[in-house]
Amino acid sequence: MCGIFGYTGKRNSVETVLKGLKKLEYRGYDSAGIAGLHTGEIVSCKEVGKIAALEKLVHEEKIELDLAIAQTRWATHGKPSVVNAHPHLDQGRTLALVHNGIIENHDSLRISLEKQGIHFVSETDTEVIAQLLGVMYQGDFLATLREAIPLLKGAFALAIIHKDYPGQIFAIAHESPLVIGIGHGEAFVSSDSNAFAAHTREVVFLANSEIAVIKSDSLQIFDLMGEIDKETHQLTEEIQEISKGDYEHYTLKEIFEQPRVIRQALLSRFLEEYGTATFEELNLDVNSLLSVQRILILACGTSLHSGLIGASLLEDQARILTYTDISSEFRYKNPIVPPDTLVIAISQSGETADTIAAVKEVKAKGAKVLAICNVYGSTLTREADSTLYLRAGPEIGVCSTKAYTSQVIVLALFSLMMARMRHMNKYEGQEFLNALKALPDVVQAVLDKAPEIEKIAKKYAHYENFFFIGRRYMYPSSLEGALKLKEISYINANGYAAGEMKHGPIALINADCPTVALGANSDTLDKLESNLREVAARDGKIIAIIKESDRGLEKIANDVITIPDTIDELATVPVTVVTQLLAYYIAIERGADIDQPRNLAKSVTVE
Ligand code: AGP
Repeated sequence: MCGIFGYTGKRNSVETVLKGLKKLEYRGYDSAGIAGLHTGEIVSCKEVGKIAALEKLVHEEKIELDLAIAQTRWATHGKPSVVNAHPHLDQGRTLALVHNGIIENHDSLRISLEKQGIHFVSETDTEVIAQLLGVMYQGDFLATLREAIPLLKGAFALAIIHKDYPGQIFAIAHESPLVIGIGHGEAFVSSDSNAFAAHTREVVFLANSEIAVIKSDSLQIFDLMGEIDKETHQLTEEIQEISKGDYEHYTLKEIFEQPRVIRQALLSRFLEEYGTATFEELNLDVNSLLSVQRILILACGTSLHSGLIGASLLEDQARILTYTDISSEFRYKNPIVPPDTLVIAISQSGETADTIAAVKEVKAKGAKVLAICNVYGSTLTREADSTLYLRAGPEIGVCSTKAYTSQVIVLALFSLMMARMRHMNKYEGQEFLNALKALPDVVQAVLDKAPEIEKIAKKYAHYENFFFIGRRYMYPSSLEGALKLKEISYINANGYAAGEMKHGPIALINADCPTVALGANSDTLDKLESNLREVAARDGKIIAIIKESDRGLEKIANDVITIPDTIDELATVPVTVVTQLLAYYIAIERGADIDQPRNLAKSVTVE
């Protein structure tokens, strides 16, 4: 997803902004650009590809800027190209702007502007904003912005500079995140506070349709009526220097971080003696938790898969009716949300547009929202009534790994707490806690098998189609395993409930379509075995992932990967580490771009 960064102050603007952009690389992009003011004129420089290519061009052209804005672009309207890269200028070169979001009525605005004699140079919706502002400006840019914002439909986070306003950056956010960093004699604006947190931790979050006028020594915020006071926040999360360490890719580093991440997610969140869980940051009162009669889980992608695990845990343990829905579907329904419904919104980034929109819809229906999120101060955490944090540290690889694991741990703790508030007794609670506390070592044992898993991955890296199948907790795990392989190796991998194979998908099974069988749920292993016999009878190759003490599938699998014993409810954690490693090593074998796969973004902040 696009990343925006702007700076005004005493430092070298070009260097500061390029450094800030690099901290946004993880969001996924295909081009980048920078613009600023120098000797009263707008200067801009743009390049396709990585930021390093832009940096090379900036230095070749000896670009100097008194203040700067920049953007990493993830193409939505118009292919990746220099012309379509941001920043975009108006025809008169009086202003430059960068944008994260989508302007839904860009076509009609473009036609209207072309009738006024405006000639567009790009295919983007963003240039429409620049040209519109250029046409509307009559000498008071703040007034221009106030008039222009209501004309824009869709989501937009904007950072804008104007040649008549040296030293100033104008920033606007509407359904797309933007945060301002206030330093001493300097100021920053970015899509993600982590990009400037090394310089300042005092931040202001812009709300919809607010306009910020950012100077190195002052910050004014306006709504459409006039100037308003905004409270500042202190960034609390420790800023972890984002680096790959000794790993070749962030994705591999984050896979291997998972024993520590599990320990972090568990830390000080359970009461051994009472066999239950506790969250210091949970500010939903006990009575509201006791009155919960049903739970709705909303999420996208990997977060939806952990949500499916959470739904099974809450039903199996807490006996609370729990259902999940895809955020991008839910937001367009007229949902039925009965009283006493608790909504759990899961999002690693806290910026996924579909999940935020779904949360706003469900809040309009009067439901309480509990967020499970990895980013402090993200938009979702400010929309929710309460947030449980993953504590997983920044997840840089576009494909989500440690966040999934941490989401499952947090959901398991929450389910335990809700179960102990209802039917579960102390001893059952302590037993579940013991299984949770064993997971870091269970996962470490799986990670120690990486060379064995790599060998198997190489055998299967040439296939273009895969099935992942499982039952019960292994069904969402199959969806997640398939998504991992799809995302980073570009193989057509599909996850299915094993019982569904005979209802159609088995038509695709042949010697060129292997099946990864997730057999780590003992209760339904015999049923899975029957499904696999149907696969084997059609020459389908089978990679079986099974518990050390449950080796029934060994006789029909072509390759077997065992995991240490754990309970069915938590088996998704070690099994998913296996499928993460399988996907990683297959992608390596195929030479794919691991950390920033094609077409993907780390945080999908647009529809
Ligand atoms: C997961 O590997 C993907 N990158 C993607 O499905 C992701 O889980 C989804 O976009 C949701 O992101 P979120 O957790 O930040 O809301």
